[in-house]
Amino acid sequence: MKMIYLENVSKVYPNGTEALKNISLNIDNGEFVFIVGPSGAGKSTFLKLLIREEKASFGKIKVSGYDLMKIRRGKIPYLRRKMGIVFQDFRLIAKMNVYDNVAFAMRVIGTPERAIRKRVKEVLELVGLDGKENRKPSEISGGEQQRVSLARALVNKPDMIIADEPTGNIDPELSFDIMKLLVEINQTGTTVIIVTHEHDLVKEFGRRIITIEDGEIKSDEKYPTKYHRTEADKK
Ligand SMILES: Nc1ncnc2c1ncn2[C@@H]1O[C@H](COP(=O)(O)OP(=O)(O)O)[C@@H](O)[C@H]1O
Ligand SMILES: [Mg+2]
Repeated sequence: MKMIYLENVSKVYPNGTEALKNISLNIDNGEFVFIVGPSGAGKSTFLKLLIREEKASFGKIKVSGYDLMKIRRGKIPYLRRKMGIVFQDFRLIAKMNVYDNVAFAMRVIGTPERAIRKRVKEVLELVGLDGKENRKPSEISGGEQQRVSLARALVNKPDMIIADEPTGNIDPELSFDIMKLLVEINQTGTTVIIVTHEHDLVKEFGRRIITIEDGEIKSDEKYPTKYHRTEADKK
């Protein structure tokens, strides 16, 4: 089943910048996709279209069964509930501690406190932040803030995780761990879409890689794994 469907999608910002030009692609349920490309290529714009933070200017775009060219404003929160979003700048709430930053995502959809306590504990353990519940974002490192934002994205068990440069501000060893965690989450059936500039990591993990350059899809390698390369080499 297609979770994400784009046909001839373009995005022109009000100032005239054409950030995406005639993009067509599908992403199936359960896929693990890296989006790579130089700065200014249109990667973040692509993610913003998926979460309907921006509306496409032309083309067809469907996500999780919603037609994003026609979706009403009031339905957008329902679309977003299917998604766990890790923003480039984390978007943590400065006055809330780690626990509340994560719990907040469950409170807004009306989850009972008991269920919240259990699940928040679970995800904080998963990202390795147990023991830091009472710290404010300003009292933890950049890498830890990143993991709070990942925990918050995971807490409602979304159908898909969308992350914009989730390893952008942390050291290589930590970013490898975060990628491994995302692979594990993907193995439970969650679709994972990650924008990253870390080419070493992308090669290491050998998944689908979509390269965007100057607003266009430059390549879409579906099987860049060592196994497939070996098969190709035999011919
Ligand atoms: N809100 C905006 N208004 C106008 N231009 C924008 C806006 N956001 C991004 N852009 C431009 O669109 C292009 C793609 O940006 P972006 O999607 O952020 O690229 P990337 O994430 O690959 O670095 C760039 O030229 C950028 O300057
Ligand atoms: Mg970006």
